[in-house]
Amino acid sequence: MRAVELRGDRVLILDQTLLPHSVRVLECRTPEEVAEAIREMRVRGAPAVGMAGAMALALAALRSRGSPEERLRRLEEVAERLRGTRPTGADLSRRLEQVMEEVRRAAREGGDLGRAAVEEVRRRMREYDEAERRMGEHGAGLIGDGATVLTHCNAGWLATPGKYGTALSAVRFARKRGKRVRVLATETRPLLQGARLTAWELSREGIEVTVITDGMVGYCMSKGMVDLVAVGADRVFRDGHVVNKVGTYPIASLARRHGVPFYVFAPLSTFDPVGRAEEVEIEQRGEREVAEVAGRRLVPEGVRVLNPAFDLTPPELVTAIVTEEGILRPPFRRSISRVLGKD
Ligand code: MRU
Repeated sequence: MRAVELRGDRVLILDQTLLPHSVRVLECRTPEEVAEAIREMRVRGAPAVGMAGAMALALAALRSRGSPEERLRRLEEVAERLRGTRPTGADLSRRLEQVMEEVRRAAREGGDLGRAAVEEVRRRMREYDEAERRMGEHGAGLIGDGATVLTHCNAGWLATPGKYGTALSAVRFARKRGKRVRVLATETRPLLQGARLTAWELSREGIEVTVITDGMVGYCMSKGMVDLVAVGADRVFRDGHVVNKVGTYPIASLARRHGVPFYVFAPLSTFDPVGRAEEVEIEQRGEREVAEVAGRRLVPEGVRVLNPAFDLTPPELVTAIVTEEGILRPPFRRSISRVLGKD
């Protein structure tokens, strides 16, 4: 089972809005259907969203007709629309550009545009599987036997195109090495990725997981219940600023206060080598996600709510960033620049 897959001329998406109650796969036949699934967070997590976008563009390339120039123009438009579905994560625009590059090359060389796009998707999927494995191997060394790892949101395989995830890959590989590991998962308001998704992913593999509300992190840390924090990322800047699910910044602040190491797991596809943290576009989602619980409005009518999907953690709160190329430590400008050339 994977969060997202390209099979023939269909994109298969494991519908995460239905988990943990039902495990249902959505079959998308058009790029618009995939775009809608991304917007509604049926597929989510920066790396999975990035590959879902690339697959949607491959569907568009397979379906497009006309002269190579007309097809290219239409594909650029589709890529632009896909890019806007979830603007904060770095993977989506990166993956769309990678597919567009291959399609442009095929057009120049008189090749098959659809096949070029599909091959690029397949290549990136293989590459990503390997990246997850390597992040897991590097990260496992940071987890001691008997450790409790606090994680936020979901940075497991549901958030990626691969088999292991990013932060949770480290937990999986630590276990493979025979270590006993416990996970504390924050529920992650408003969409409860921790309570629904991380808890589902880990419990079905027999990994011990305990769910806490987001507000309990300080309690748990002050009681010495957390040995390390391991989270994913949606965008990492060259200076080490990390964008991740809203609520990550307070966890990093508490971790510093209590001397708990704070590790971020990010494949190189999540790094933004040119953007600046001050200019990041934080996705603002609909009010209903916050105002309603299980479909019922709890906030009094007429009262406004905020719903930024992500926040920004400054580099001084980050102990290290784990990538497929190894563990990056401060000063991040130097360690990040060293690996970015390899992407
Ligand atoms: O809004 P979401 O659920 O897509 O946000 C996901 C996260 O913030 C994850 O922590 C991040 O994408 C890392 S996933 C490997």
